[in-house]
Amino acid sequence: MRRVKLWDKEFEISHPYEEIQAAIGKMAAQMKIDLEGKSVLFVCILNGSFMFAADLMKELELCDAEISFLKLASYSGTSSTHEIKELIGFNENIAGRTIVILEDIVDTGNTIEDVMKQIRAKGALEVKIATLLFKPDAMKAKIDLDYVGIVIPNDFIVGYGLDYDRRGRNLKDIYTLVK
Ligand code: IMP
Ligand code: MG
Repeated sequence: MRRVKLWDKEFEISHPYEEIQAAIGKMAAQMKIDLEGKSVLFVCILNGSFMFAADLMKELELCDAEISFLKLASYSGTSSTHEIKELIGFNENIAGRTIVILEDIVDTGNTIEDVMKQIRAKGALEVKIATLLFKPDAMKAKIDLDYVGIVIPNDFIVGYGLDYDRRGRNLKDIYTLVK
């Protein structure tokens, strides 16, 4: 499908599945080098990151890696809100551990900054960020991203876990809003 319609909006394919998998493969290769031998807890930010986390974890092949899930919501329609709600938290003990946050996309950076603060406050040894997609032109937070898959313009996208008002998460490719 080159184009899809979700609710009232049209989207056109911009990042096919193969490009996404190639980007994830590169991220996994770098992570293997950096994280081998550490007791790592990956934290997948739901809902958007479920496909990314699944594909990355399969590529990683780190035997001592653990994964948990944090459910947040900050988007309304096609724009980010400043209010980040924690809908489901996680209970793992993170004191003294290496945490890698898995995000689908860093847009304004508000969400990731908030999550980092929470995780640091729980006593993590180090907190790293891995994001499949990054919109540098929208970024407001002053934080470093450790692993970035694909850098994209400041356009609204859907697919591969990302939604437009709950729809489009199931698409295997990434699509950009047609203006
Ligand atoms: P931020 O807090 O502005 O960085 O936004 C982070 C969250 O907003 C991401 O984890 C996504 O769930 C969502 N988001 C940001 N940009 C997009 C987009 O282009 N399409 C769909 N969701 C997005
Ligand atoms: Mg997200």
